[in-house]
Amino acid sequence: LDLDLRPAPQPLPDAERAAVLADPGFGRYFTDHMATARWTTDDGWHDAAVHPLEPFTLHPAAAVLHYGQEIFEGLKAYRHADGSVWLFRPDKNARRFARSARRLALPMLDEDDFVAAVEAVVRADVAWVPSAADGQETSLYLRPFMIATEAFLGVRPAHEATFGVVASPAGPYFSGGVQGVNLWVTDRYVRASRGGTGDAKTGGNYAASLAAQAEARDRGCDQVLYLDGEEHAWLEEAGTMNVFLVTADGELLTPALGSILEGVTRDSLLELAPDLGLTPVERRIGLAELRERLADGSVTEVFAAGTAAVITPVVGIRGEDRGQGAVYEQQVGDGTPGAASLALRAALLDLQYGRTPDARGWLRRV
Ligand code: COI
Repeated sequence: LDLDLRPAPQPLPDAERAAVLADPGFGRYFTDHMATARWTTDDGWHDAAVHPLEPFTLHPAAAVLHYGQEIFEGLKAYRHADGSVWLFRPDKNARRFARSARRLALPMLDEDDFVAAVEAVVRADVAWVPSAADGQETSLYLRPFMIATEAFLGVRPAHEATFGVVASPAGPYFSGGVQGVNLWVTDRYVRASRGGTGDAKTGGNYAASLAAQAEARDRGCDQVLYLDGEEHAWLEEAGTMNVFLVTADGELLTPALGSILEGVTRDSLLELAPDLGLTPVERRIGLAELRERLADGSVTEVFAAGTAAVITPVVGIRGEDRGQGAVYEQQVGDGTPGAASLALRAALLDLQYGRTPDARGWLRRV
């Protein structure tokens, strides 16, 4: 991609931007610029630019609006104490974006072009990367995406698509901070099934999660714990995040890949685990095993992990026994965030904010 730079003629005034950065929340505010590039079957990628943030004009028959042909990514830029700005493993997002594109029959975007577009937006809006000097967990959340824009109502891969990157300053994803959440084990909804789109980052997965999320809320829980689509027996994901268990004998357990999203945070935690004395294990994990081991104390901690919320400790699970209608409820550990979960969280954040050395070369300076 040859990214043209067209600077915003009227960026948000410094004082207003400072007010936003003081309390950004998550996903509510957007920076002055965005990147876009267009693709057609005839011309490939073209019209790539970083330009002022602006609404799209879409034909009402655009494929994305009808058949959900869409993918996205999420990653963050972090400001270190010396003022420098860094991305965390953007190559992983680029690779996953390519895999998602293949699954949703969208065009391939070169992985280097993906990273270059993200970097170009960060550079244009570097003033929007919050300073984390006060120990606050703030960053600039980047949202690359691709949509099928062709006006055509037949069901086939669109011949026109648009790639974009928008940026949004971010504080903690959950406004309540790092308190534990309760998960509702849904027996009614599944997130994915074999051969489906569970391992792609596509809007439809998230649209389909909303009713399940509402069910969890109705049941007094914060998020959903999804089971597999075939047997309703194996752990898949927690809300929009990967799920992890910590065992009394020092294992860090997480469901094996398949119909779940291959999280960058998931992968990073598995790699960091040995530094914290934990043995990483990826395998199938039954709900029955989780319930037994919560009861006998051999699973001591549960948490959810993702880019947006980093690590969210799980302090309880609730669900309904099949056919019996009786609701069960189990506390995790002593009902407060566990020590290993918080240690992993701190280790990852210390790395991302440059407070510990980056031995693995995961950070990329913008
Ligand atoms: C995550 O980072 O955990 C996500 O899945 C992004 C979310 C805002 C959809």
